[in-house]
Amino acid sequence: IKITIIDREGEAHLVDAPTDMNMNLMEVIRSHELAPEGTIGICGGMAMCASCQCYMLNKEHLLPEKGYEEEDMLDQAFFVQDNSRLSCQIPITKELEGLEVKISPYNA
Ligand code: FES
Repeated sequence: IKITIIDREGEAHLVDAPTDMNMNLMEVIRSHELAPEGTIGICGGMAMCASCQCYMLNKEHLLPEKGYEEEDMLDQAFFVQDNSRLSCQIPITKELEGLEVKISPYNA
């Protein structure tokens, strides 16, 4: 599927995200090197940091509900908005074709 990812500099990137590789959104961002190494995915996708926080610009209603760990982490994170999600908790599924997200400022 195609996803638009806006990096921390505000530049939009239309990228391919595979639905058959068991990837989450944080891994897609990393695989396209859209955030500097070491500033995203620090906990390895365990919902234990907030380095992968993104703002969901559309399709929020199609995303899985936040789990307890994600809620808890977002309560402690910086720059949180109503549309914040931890991108490591968003599996890539074909329903997300056309998703648009913005990477939050760096916080770990
Ligand atoms: Fe740490 Fe997503 S990578 S919460």
